[in-house]
Formats: sequence, structure tokens, C-alpha cells
Amino acid sequence: MFETLKEQPADKILQLMQMYREDPREQKIDLGVGVYKDASGNTPVMRAIKAAEKTLWETETTKSYTGLAGDPGFADAMVSLVLGDSVPRDCVSAAATPGGTGAVRQGFDLVKMANPKAKVWVSDPTWPNHLSILKHMGMEFTPYRYFDSATRGVDFVHMIADLTAVMPGDVVLLHGCCHNPTGANLTQAQWKAVIELLLDKEAVPMIDIAYQGFGDGLDEDAIGVRMVAEKMPEVIIAASCSKNFGIYRERTGLLMTVSKDRSRSKLNQGTLNYLNRQNYSFPPDHGARLVTMVLTTPELRADWAAELEEVRNSMLGLRQQLADELKRLTNSDRFDFIAQHRGMFSRLGASPEQVETLRRDHGIYMVGDSRLNIAGLNKTTVPLLAEAIVKSGV
Ligand code: LMR
Repeated sequence: MFETLKEQPADKILQLMQMYREDPREQKIDLGVGVYKDASGNTPVMRAIKAAEKTLWETETTKSYTGLAGDPGFADAMVSLVLGDSVPRDCVSAAATPGGTGAVRQGFDLVKMANPKAKVWVSDPTWPNHLSILKHMGMEFTPYRYFDSATRGVDFVHMIADLTAVMPGDVVLLHGCCHNPTGANLTQAQWKAVIELLLDKEAVPMIDIAYQGFGDGLDEDAIGVRMVAEKMPEVIIAASCSKNFGIYRERTGLLMTVSKDRSRSKLNQGTLNYLNRQNYSFPPDHGARLVTMVLTTPELRADWAAELEEVRNSMLGLRQQLADELKRLTNSDRFDFIAQHRGMFSRLGASPEQVETLRRDHGIYMVGDSRLNIAGLNKTTVPLLAEAIVKSGV
């Protein structure tokens, strides 16, 4: 049987991670995978998570199963973090998943069950794993234009032009904030226009929110998703706790559905439970429990929010430093977009050859589409990157 298996395409981001590890050069900079790193290159366990872990170790008396949707306290805490009071809680059904990727995968599964004919519209570009999962599931998808490679901002005119072809029941995948891979995000006015269009087209928005708190702040980054939840009759939301709680390997995420018709919530909840049971039975609990403890214990929550703010400000500082340095070296403002982008990533707009030159000649690793992880930099490496960018002819 196994002889029929074919080699699968390698994930570009994970492949880059491996290449970086194997590079023997001392002077190298990893701007690849979306993991936060502090100034010394470490990905720390956040203080509040560490404190919650200690308490959990002391107080947890069983490792028996939770519910199929995970601990209800986790869903409550996360629904409130993501959706605020944009919709009544009883319009939301939610199930814990293994990470944000698990939530995305279950979300697509839900679409497939509810409307096998649905086409999924994805931003061009989007996180490559969105496409890989859709392909793997045999689901139809179509890109909509999103990024303007001249301005490095959102190409909103073409985005709207492409989305006018959406059919009733189609699903439009949107990034809640901190667009991956571009760093270019919708304004509130643009969110509003997208909502009006989707309402008109009777399409269903699916929002992937994996970086809440990394852009402009916890509430600010949720504005788009909350506007959508408030206005649209049905929404699918995949949230990740990997980045904003720094618990990557604990695989902690939540899939939510919003339905304004409350009589659907029970059915939706049952479907989410069913999907969990089919795919992995009970979702992992450790990370979810830590998140719940952090969000529901006032001192831990305050400390977590403060540390997240430090992380966010450090990335904003690095963005500004890089934009300033490039302005100085090029005598132009053509890299100012780096300071305007939000989240962990910016798409630099370098060609694949220039990305390769940066890696080969300067030991600088970024994804082939020239996505760079701002958090992979520090004050000392910013000037090195700026110089290499200029030398590589970007
Ligand atoms: C990324 O885009 O680098 C992260 O979301 C990590 C991943 O799994 O790809």
C-alpha cells in the first residue's frame, strides 16, 4: 500500500526553519517562521503563563477527559476576548481545537458539511497553509486580490472588484488583524464596505484571527471581527492562542460560529462537538486551561496584557527603526510602509532572487515571497538587515 504514496510538497515556512538551523554561519538572522523572539533571540514563556502553570501543577487533581468542546470556561473567556460584547453569548457556539490551525481545519470541515458546493475565497496572498489545507480537503477555492505590490498596502479596489463575483453561500476567508504574510490591514471603513458587500452577496465570512494584540492592541485588533459578528447573520471564526499567549507548542485554539438565529446555536454546538469527536476526540486541555486562568484571574490578566503590550511595542519600535534606517541609506521614503504595517510580518516586495541573495550572501532568512518576521530582529540586527536589503538591490 505504502508504495502508492507520493512525496508531499514541503511547507516553505517549516523548510526555511530547518535551513536556518543547519546554517553553520555565526552571523545569521532568522526572519522566517512566525514566532515571537525577544532581543536576545529567545521565545520566552510569558510571566502570567508561568504563574498559572505553577498554580495548575499545585491544584490540578485529575487529567481525566474534559468535554468534547473542551472546558466551557475556556470558550467563555476566549469568546469574550475576541468578540467583546459585539454579540450575545448565546448566539455563539465554540469548541476548543489543537491550535489556530486546528480551528481553521475544523472551520473548513464545517463549511464542507454545511454547504459542499461552497467556494472558499482567499486573499492573494494568504498564509500558505490555508491553501494547503483546502487542497488537502479537496475544497474549491479562488483567490481575491488583496495586496498592492507598488504601495505595499491593501489593494482595496481590486479586492472589492473580485469579491463582487462571490455567490450566495460562498465563504470569504479574512484575516482578523495583522495580515499574514503582508502586514497590510483593512481600515474600519474598508471592513464596513466588505461587510456590506458580503451581506448583499449572502456570503459567509470566515475570520482567522491568530495575532490579536500584536497590531494596535487587544481591542483595536478585534474591531474588524467584532464589526462582522455584529452585522452578519452567520460568521465562522478561528482564533489562535499560540502567539498572544506564547504557548505555541501547547496547541491551543478555538473555533466559533456566530448565528443570529439563536435556535441554530444548539445545532451548531452539536456539529462542532461532532467534528472534534471525528477528528481527534477531546481537544488538548493544558494550554486552554492556562489561558482560562490568565483571562479570569485579574492579576494574571493584567500582567499578561502588560507583557503583551511590551511585545507589541518592541515590534513597533523595530519597525520604525528599520524604516528610519532604510530611509537614511536610500535617501527615500519607499520603505516607510514597514512602519505602517502591523503585526509580526511585512512583505518587503523583494524578488525571489533578492530573497535568495539575502540568504546566501548575508545569512538573512525570510520566506520566499519576501515576508519578514519583524520579531526576529533586534536593535543590533536592524542596521545589518537594512544594509543587506540595499546591497541586494531591493
Ligand atoms: C507562520 O506563518 O509562520 C506561523 O503561522 C507558523 C506556521 O505554522 O506557519
